[in-house]
Amino acid sequence: TGPEPDLRFVLSIDQGTTSTRAVVFNYAGEPVGSGQKEHSQHFPQAGWVEHDAVEIWRNTREVIGLALADADINRHSLAAVGITNQRETTVVWDRATGEPVHPAIVWQDTRTQRICDELAGDAGPDRYKDRVGLPLATYFSGPKIRWILQNVDGAAQRAEAGELLFGTMDTWLIWNLTGGVRGGVHVTDVTNASRTMLMNIDTLDWNEEIASEMGIPVSMLPQIRSSSELYGYGRRESLLIDTPITGILGDQHAATFGQACFAPGQGKNTYGTGNFMLMNTGEEIVRSENGLLTTVAYQLGEQKPVYALEGSIAVTGSLVQWLRDNLGLISSAPEVETKAKRVADTGGAYIVPAFSGLFAPYWKPDARGVIVGLTSFINQFHLCRAALESTAYQSAEVVEAMNADAGDELVELKVDGGMVVNETLMQFQADVLGVDVVRPKVIETTALGAAYAAGLAVGFWESTDDVVANWAEDTRWTPTTDAEERSALLAGWRRAVTRSFDWASP
Ligand code: G3P
Repeated sequence: TGPEPDLRFVLSIDQGTTSTRAVVFNYAGEPVGSGQKEHSQHFPQAGWVEHDAVEIWRNTREVIGLALADADINRHSLAAVGITNQRETTVVWDRATGEPVHPAIVWQDTRTQRICDELAGDAGPDRYKDRVGLPLATYFSGPKIRWILQNVDGAAQRAEAGELLFGTMDTWLIWNLTGGVRGGVHVTDVTNASRTMLMNIDTLDWNEEIASEMGIPVSMLPQIRSSSELYGYGRRESLLIDTPITGILGDQHAATFGQACFAPGQGKNTYGTGNFMLMNTGEEIVRSENGLLTTVAYQLGEQKPVYALEGSIAVTGSLVQWLRDNLGLISSAPEVETKAKRVADTGGAYIVPAFSGLFAPYWKPDARGVIVGLTSFINQFHLCRAALESTAYQSAEVVEAMNADAGDELVELKVDGGMVVNETLMQFQADVLGVDVVRPKVIETTALGAAYAAGLAVGFWESTDDVVANWAEDTRWTPTTDAEERSALLAGWRRAVTRSFDWASP
């Protein structure tokens, strides 16, 4: 049937780690206009990463305007708005002034290591895992909230008195979009809440005991809602006056949704700042024994939640940025491929980019980055190739963990995200995995997934069948290696990885 004639589009806001994008989608799930703006990355100390939440809110308003102008429409043509976001990044703000009390602490930030160790105590890092699906790690929001409450003067008392609010970026943006200090709604969805370490993975409500052990008053936490329902309407603070906001998904969950992974066993791998592989496990909560996270994939309105296993890798695309910004080895991100292609292999060199420790499947906070296998033969081209290969190797290890947890072998890998334009990387990914790598026509699956969640809530799309119908394959890479070559490649990588262990605490 399709949408009403006047409401022809859905707007998606994708608030990512390095930039904020807004994309207008039509009924066929095609992008028809977009706007994008990068925000500043602050690194006040080694291991610390901060964002200015006010700058992000300003950029959000700007990119909404850019996207609408690019599509040559205004809010009257929008059936709904969906939000997707970098997950875990933590903002605490004053509900009366709307001012953050501290810069946002980004998911990559490792300052909460001591807090995590203290909370783990004798029980170890898996202390809360049964309840929340996650190991204690600096990655997640709960310990970041605790850090802010402990380190900002008066914050703990003000939080206790109900003056402060916590949010991940979805919550912060929706609160502002729906009126801010003049009555903004304070909500999040189950996927974002599942990354805080504070939500019961089975009942989908806040775990008061864990919150209290972290010293976090439950009253500062947003209301947990499904991923697809009416949260509120845009107010005059944005260009979206009276436009319904009806979708929220953490960015990796949104990509899973946009890739139409609706059946158990279906999954995707997103190549962004980091890499994140999610596999749908249906209504079943699968607890990983191989270093993966249990997370909520999505929940549509009143329907039962759908769960996923996730393998999170902290540094992949950001290694390319590091080669560009910190080493000056390349002058633009695409150049990494041009240079990598000049050599057939890495000459035996490996880069293990454990900049935030190692996430899945190792969870080693004390690991730090290493480059190994250097000889006088190694040149910049080998290093560029080693950087790309590290992305593929890290993903291969996550696939192994998925296979082990699922008791079944992955048959093909759906990919998306900025780095999948890199043909050399995609071919190497297929070669190291031994399965086909498949790229869809729309690689903006993150923004698209949030648009779908929003559009489904208002009947713009009728069911997930429409999403499946819109998904189309673009390119497929087939492995050129045999099993023996693959295990030799991975064995070299594993040897390199062990060299990064314990570096921060010898
Ligand atoms: O968990 C962090 C993840 O959501 C960040 O995604 O795409 O902003 O790097 P991205």
